[in-house]
Amino acid sequence: MVKAHRGQYPVTKNESIADGIYELCFEAPDIARAANAGQFANVYLPGGAMLLPRPISIADVRGDVVTLVYAIVGGGTKALAGIKAGARLEIMGPLGTGYFDYAGSPTDAAPSGAFENPFTALLVGGGVGAPPLHFAARRIRAARRGRVKIVACLGFRGHPWYREEFERVCDEVLLASEAEGAAAFHGNVAHLLDKSFPYKEAGSPQANGQALPSLALACGPRPMLKAASDFCAAKNITLRVSLEERMGCGYGACAGCTCKTRLLGDVLKPQNGPNMPNAEGFIKKKVCAHGPVFWADEVVW
Ligand SMILES: Cc1cc2nc3c(=O)[nH]c(=O)nc-3n(C[C@H](O)[C@H](O)[C@H](O)COP(=O)(O)OP(=O)(O)OC[C@H]3O[C@@H](n4cnc5c(N)ncnc54)[C@H](O)[C@@H]3O)c2cc1C
Ligand code: FES
Repeated sequence: MVKAHRGQYPVTKNESIADGIYELCFEAPDIARAANAGQFANVYLPGGAMLLPRPISIADVRGDVVTLVYAIVGGGTKALAGIKAGARLEIMGPLGTGYFDYAGSPTDAAPSGAFENPFTALLVGGGVGAPPLHFAARRIRAARRGRVKIVACLGFRGHPWYREEFERVCDEVLLASEAEGAAAFHGNVAHLLDKSFPYKEAGSPQANGQALPSLALACGPRPMLKAASDFCAAKNITLRVSLEERMGCGYGACAGCTCKTRLLGDVLKPQNGPNMPNAEGFIKKKVCAHGPVFWADEVVW
C-alpha cells in the first residue's frame, strides 16, 4: 500500500454537476502521483466543526489535480459544497486498497496471464459510484489500449449525469435510470445486467459472437454490489467491489468500519488483512485499511 499524504491543498473547482452532485478538484501533486482507482481521500471540514473526516473516492487524476465527486447527503457534504475555488482544504490520501493493487491486474506493465489478451472488462456502477469506475476505465485503457473491450453498466436515480465521460473511454455504455424516460433502460442496474448478458458462463459465445467479461469492477450502494456479486458468481466472472461503509477515523485506528469476510483459498485472489476466521467462520476486516476494494466472493453479504 502506498503512503498517504496529508495537507492543506488549494481547491481549483467545487461545482454542482447534477442535482445534489458536486465535483471537487484540488491541486495535490503528491496525492495525484500515488493515487490508484478505487482508493479514497479523507476530507476534513474546515473549522473543526466536524471531527471525523468524510471519505470520498478518487474520481480522477489529471496531472497534479485530483477530482472527487460527491452527493450531498448530510451536514458534512452540505458544508463541503459551500467551499469556494481558491480556498485550501485539509485532505489525506490516497487511502485504502484500490482496484488494481493486486498482482495480475489489467493495469500491470506485464500482465501475469490472468487475463486473456484481449479481454472484456465490465464496470458496474450506481450514482456516485460511477466516477471512480471512470477513473478505473481510464487506467485500464492507458495500460491496454486496444487490447481490451470496456463495457460500463451504470444506474442513476434520474438523468445519467456521467454518461459522456464514460462514452469517451468505454467501448459500450449501458444505462439504467429509475426515472421513466431518463435512460434507454427503465429500472436498476441488476435488471440491466440480466437483460444485457442473458447467457450462462464466461467464455460462452453470445449471439453476436462476444464473450462474457473476464473481470468486473463495481462501486455503488450495497444492494447493487450484492446483486452484481450474485450476477458475477452465477456467470463465473471475477468481481472486485468497492465497499463504502460508514467510517470513523478513516485510516485504520478505530475499527468503526468493519465488514465480515471469508477466507478464499484461491492463490489468484490474494487478500489483505487478517486471515484467521473466528468461531463463526468469519474474518472481520477494516474497510478503510484492508479495503475498500475486496473480492466479491470474500465479502459476507
Ligand atoms: C471508502 C468510501 C468512499 C466513498 N466515496 C464516496 C464518493 O465518491 N462520493 C460520495 O458522494 N460519497 C462517498 N462516500 C460516502 C460519503 O463518505 C458519505 O456520504 C459522507 O461521509 C456523508 O457525510 P455527511 O456529513 O454529509 O452525512 P452524515 O450526516 O454523516 O450522514 C447523512 C446520512 O447519510 C448516511 N451515510 C453517511 N455515510 C454513509 C455511507 N458511507 N454509506 C451509507 N450511508 C451513509 C447516514 O447514515 C445518514 O443517514 C464514500 C464512503 C466511503 C467509506
Ligand atoms: S474508520 Fe477507523 S478503522 Fe476504519
